Amino acid sequence: MPPATLHLGQTLSFAGDPFALGPTAARHERRGAVLVENGLISQTGPADVLGAQHPDAAVVDHGEGLILPGFVDAHAHYPQTAMIASWGKRLIDWLNSYTFPEEMRFADPAYARDIAERYLDILLSHGTTTVCSYCTIHPASADALFEAAKARGMRVFAGKTCMDRDTAPDGLRDTAQSAYDDSKALLARWHGQGRAEYVITPRFSPTSTPEQLEALGALWAENPDCLMQTHLSEQLDEIAWVKSLYPAARDYLDTYEAYGLLGSRGLYGHAIHLDPRETDRLREADAALVHCPTSNTFIGSGLFDMAGLTAAGQRVGLATDTGGGSSFSMLRTMAAAYEIGQLRGTPLHPSALLWLATQGSANALHAEDRIGNLAPGLEADMVVLDLASTPAIAQRHAQAADIWEAVFPTIMMGDDRAVAATYVAGEKVLRPGDQGLD
Ligand code: GUN
Ligand code: ZN
Repeated sequence: MPPATLHLGQTLSFAGDPFALGPTAARHERRGAVLVENGLISQTGPADVLGAQHPDAAVVDHGEGLILPGFVDAHAHYPQTAMIASWGKRLIDWLNSYTFPEEMRFADPAYARDIAERYLDILLSHGTTTVCSYCTIHPASADALFEAAKARGMRVFAGKTCMDRDTAPDGLRDTAQSAYDDSKALLARWHGQGRAEYVITPRFSPTSTPEQLEALGALWAENPDCLMQTHLSEQLDEIAWVKSLYPAARDYLDTYEAYGLLGSRGLYGHAIHLDPRETDRLREADAALVHCPTSNTFIGSGLFDMAGLTAAGQRVGLATDTGGGSSFSMLRTMAAAYEIGQLRGTPLHPSALLWLATQGSANALHAEDRIGNLAPGLEADMVVLDLASTPAIAQRHAQAADIWEAVFPTIMMGDDRAVAATYVAGEKVLRPGDQGLD
């Protein structure tokens, strides 16, 4: 048996959802401990109690560091890594000018492998241990991401993006049949292999024909334990475009609903400009809405109604949406969610922001029994934050009266410099110069 490892530091975990229960849903230990055995968390609690119970455990003392569950990014496009921060366009122009040309480069599997590895290393350096990513239309782009995740031991959700309409450019289209066949083959190859989870991925209804949506709806019905991800009501121009392409649909959501693409394992990115029928149907289906705040400000999409939607009981996750999002960091993403909340008159408490970036996103991915919290039985994916990582943050942190004042400057002003360590299934992610001793 490999030895148990006892991680000591401040710990923050969740006994429930802060949107429903308030900040007391979060449990903070000033001097806490997380016991890790065989890649899983076996116990959490006060450091003195666990230390006395496990005198033989190897000890890693993170000092004042804050141990959190690893961040979970519930919607991203790894193929857009190299074109993040592209200037000046709104959604449809941005897709045509920057996104599609870059995604075409993934016809070369070697390029896909290079970006997949680069991308996951960037995520880990930002404390993100799980992502749910789109790939490109090329099946090898999904293989590349799953291979890179396997090499790093990461729990990754991903799927081949499907687009068969002539609204997508030449070279970046599949067909209804090939999308079904390729998705099915990838699903058989990867879903449930180690920590890989396959996600059925129609990009959005403007780039699919009804035949393709129907084929992917059928594939989902044949594999109901899989997730399905797509985009919904991100920009007003996009909604008008959907209306022109699907004149018989009652609304944007109906273009998915009509083809079997609405369900509780469905992930709907953005979901900003929703009609009442759409919010009702999404809630009845217990579908997950994924808030992408840095993307929504960067591409100029609008202000997601976090307060209203969570109060109505919608399942909500948080995501970067890179490269539409302007940062790989879930800290920066929480800050943007806070700012959008402020613009709507509903600021989010730090406990709610941290919950969204961990357990909330895990919940959106139906993975809360495996990741997203510090609790016995969960996989030991963890991030350790330095709450005084820069002089500007440190001087504000020095005035903090409680854990929320202590962590909020890092949420608002932190970046990868705040990530003191990342652990994947109990293993420390090594950086250049690390000795690998803990
Ligand atoms: N809608 C369809 N595709 C995309 C994409 O790649 N990024 C964003 N932000 N929205 C989309
Ligand atoms: Zn997206």
